[in-house]
Amino acid sequence: MGEYKKYWIAVVAVLIIGFSILGYLGTDVYHQAPPVPTAYVSQDGQVLFTKDDILHGQSAWQSTGGQSVGTVLGHGAYQAPDWTADWLHKEVSVMLDIKSQEAFGVLYEQLGDVQKAAVKEAVKAEYFNSAVREDGTVVLSPERITAMNLTGQYFIELYGDNPKLSETRDHFAMKDNTLPELKDRIDMARFFFWTTWMASTQRPGTDATYTNNWPHEPLLDHNPTPESVAWSVVSVIILLCGIGIVVWMWAFGRKQDEHELTPPAEDPISKLHLTPSQRSLGKYLFTILALFLLQLGMGGIIAHYTVEGQAFYGIPLAQYFPYSIARTWHIQASLFWIAMAFLSAGLFLAPIINGGKDPKFQKLGVDILFWALVVLVVGSFTGTYLGVAHEIPASLNFYLGHQGYEFIELGRVWQWIEYIGILFWLVLMVRSIIGAFKNKGDKNLIAAFIFSVVMVGIFYGPGLFYGEHSHLAIMEYWRWWVIHLWVEGFFEVFSTTLMAFIFVTLGLVSYRAGTIAAISSGAIYLIGGIPGTFHHLYFTGVTSTIVATGASFSALEVVPLVLLGYEAFENYTRLHSAPWMHRLKWPVYCFIAVSFWNLVGAGIFGFLINMPVSLFYIQGLNTTAVHAHTALFGVYGFLSLGFVFLIARYIRPEVEFNDKLMKFGFWALNWGLALMVLISLLPIGLIQSWASVTQGLWLARSEDFMQQPLLQNLRWLRMVGDTIMILGALAFFWQIVKVTFTKKQ
Ligand code: HEM
Ligand SMILES: [Fe+2]
Repeated sequence: MGEYKKYWIAVVAVLIIGFSILGYLGTDVYHQAPPVPTAYVSQDGQVLFTKDDILHGQSAWQSTGGQSVGTVLGHGAYQAPDWTADWLHKEVSVMLDIKSQEAFGVLYEQLGDVQKAAVKEAVKAEYFNSAVREDGTVVLSPERITAMNLTGQYFIELYGDNPKLSETRDHFAMKDNTLPELKDRIDMARFFFWTTWMASTQRPGTDATYTNNWPHEPLLDHNPTPESVAWSVVSVIILLCGIGIVVWMWAFGRKQDEHELTPPAEDPISKLHLTPSQRSLGKYLFTILALFLLQLGMGGIIAHYTVEGQAFYGIPLAQYFPYSIARTWHIQASLFWIAMAFLSAGLFLAPIINGGKDPKFQKLGVDILFWALVVLVVGSFTGTYLGVAHEIPASLNFYLGHQGYEFIELGRVWQWIEYIGILFWLVLMVRSIIGAFKNKGDKNLIAAFIFSVVMVGIFYGPGLFYGEHSHLAIMEYWRWWVIHLWVEGFFEVFSTTLMAFIFVTLGLVSYRAGTIAAISSGAIYLIGGIPGTFHHLYFTGVTSTIVATGASFSALEVVPLVLLGYEAFENYTRLHSAPWMHRLKWPVYCFIAVSFWNLVGAGIFGFLINMPVSLFYIQGLNTTAVHAHTALFGVYGFLSLGFVFLIARYIRPEVEFNDKLMKFGFWALNWGLALMVLISLLPIGLIQSWASVTQGLWLARSEDFMQQPLLQNLRWLRMVGDTIMILGALAFFWQIVKVTFTKKQ
């Protein structure tokens, strides 16, 4: 361990501190989750509906694709409204009218200011104080029951096929009969109601609602809590401190040994013997690019639905292939190809670490894993399709069909298969790397690599810790363990370590510098990354302590990203450090793109939505789509493409890349992404944000607002960027086809 001791201690300390916070406050998520009342009852004691109805409604909602159609508590798809905010606004508007009719005989809008204030105060008080009683029930006034039923009726018809709402369904890209059974629709409406109840009822002992006053609803004077404001300011200061400290430490602590390194005369990796398991990675590369194309194709279809409703250039595609499925496959395909690229990179590197040898049956293992992944992709895609088509019995939908949760759409059985696949990969990895431990000399980099591989291997697991009927707040907690912690945390560590390994093996970085980079960046990424998970939960029914923790720690996530220009420059310099490096030009260009998008997409666009006071207004707007695309594709997409071309370079050394094709592909993907964001998603997001800040979140996601010509045109404009991206992807795909299918000489 020697000179690396302090770095290892830092990693261990970060893990202990990080997981203590995440775990300890996780118990808070459980204990403080907004209750699901045993029943909602009328003032004369009549039961309106029960907890079982709400839970059944939750399952019914999941079977429509859940978060793939509109959002609930701000999480999910952006074309249809946020059902929580939308319902709350509709119901409170009706409520204000009823109360004003009762008191003054006219509608609320016709009242003078003083009378308005009186009615509003009464309604606000009624909602805020709608507490759960000792017996677990909640009493609703006759006025609120009327308002609730009227609003509910709209949702029941919207998810059905009432022709009166067919234009609205078009605008929301919802097919007719999104949920075919009336009983299911009624219960789903109850589930939606419950989310609005928690968003408007006081959390006992505080001055805020269970969702920290989210959504912004001026009718109820829902504004950011003082804690949200204060911790937002603190988070900016933490970010500045973090940057300051890192720059300071780097400037004073840097050792100059890098400059003494002379690059080898020949590429060291190409001198190693290719193993059978490495050779068999070609099919992985092809499948990765094929899934990437499929993802972009689905993206094109979704983008179309957002302007044409249920049609694709006039063809009524949505009845057979609804928005929810196109979106599900779009997201799932992206996760599959990115994960597959990471797995491939690991599998390519493992024999190199093992001194250019395969352990026994490694090729067989790599082949089995590949076919298991094929089964997983085909099976889960079929499952989500049949689930949303309601062809799978309701009781099995969660397991085989569509879970309804964004990024973990696949049924639970498929999720298990995915996890087993990842664990199998872990075994394949560890058994080859472990051999290197027998060698003499410094093994710290290998240890760091094993650490990151193990973390990637096991941390998909927490996605299995919630169930079909788990409370939304608890489900979100575990869901983000996977999407945030696994992806933003451990993928980041894995990729930094992997890169360090590659450059050390290439002889361009000293073993010492590579090791320090790998271990210390692990600590730096995880200190913000682990407790930072809570930045996804600000408004899902958690306490203000969790908001404070999420905001403060996730600000630290941005610190290393701001400094990535240096890494980009280093990679660029390496490209020119030895003549043979030009063969790695395109993979290295992809890695430079990773640094760029990490700064812009994850750092800047991530921080845009990261402060609680900011996300309070813009949760679920297109600003999130801006961040999601530039971070997920910009960072992990380009990283994966870089891995693919790096592997391609070595497993088929005889095939030259077509430089023109690669150049076109690379720049088209970058410019396409930039244009998609700059001329479409970001302007839409900013216009929506202003509407939300000034008039309420419901407006920013509402039908009328989203259908105004300006926004409609901006959505059309997206086609420019999308098309350029698709062309770029086709170029990359074609290059990989040539690599995989050119006959060996
Ligand atoms: C490469 C790293 C990152 C990736 C791949 C990534 C990916 C994503 C994705 C896909 C979403 C969308 C979730 C949804 O639609 O519900 C998201 C949401 C979010 N990200 Fe990131 N992210 C990264 C880094 C960051 C950073 C550094 C920050 C800020 C510190 C950040 C802050 C957020 C926040 C606050 C949300 C929640 C938005 C909402 O719920 O509306 N992310 N991220
Ligand atoms: Fe995150």
